[in-house]
Amino acid sequence: PQEHTLALIKPGAAKTHKGKYDIMQKVKDAGFTISKIKEEALTREMAAQFYKDHTGKPFFEELVNCMTEGPSVVMILTKENAVEEWRQLMGPTDPKVAKETSPESIRAQFAQDILCNAVHGSSTREHALQSIECVFGEIDID
Ligand code: CMP
Repeated sequence: PQEHTLALIKPGAAKTHKGKYDIMQKVKDAGFTISKIKEEALTREMAAQFYKDHTGKPFFEELVNCMTEGPSVVMILTKENAVEEWRQLMGPTDPKVAKETSPESIRAQFAQDILCNAVHGSSTREHALQSIECVFGEIDID
């Protein structure tokens, strides 16, 4: 069965040609269908909603700043096991770890630091549905 996930190229990566187009190429090479895509600057409210599980963490404010500093590329990716496979392709949150353990991953190749780590992806199917609605509204993907 096909599954959907929300994938986002963060502003720091989306502002460079290499970041934006090379990451999208990696997405396609990995066999994902980009079912929907838009470029949009998240508002602080959207970023806070997006990352509500991180509310109160020491890096939360900085995370919201990083996510709202410019336009992001937001995509709905579709594939069997899309949530897990997109997380694999992103690699570990910390690019230092990513470079050591998953040199082919997007974060190993494109992340600046643990905060501005090039891409985001939903952690579960439930989060994916919530984040898709947060960014695209109530749409019928299928
Ligand atoms: P992301 O996959 O977008 O989901 C949560 C984000 O919080 C994560 O990527 C990082 O950008 C950020 N993050 C997680 N842990 C830390 C940390 N220890 N220090 C700074 N930022 C972090």
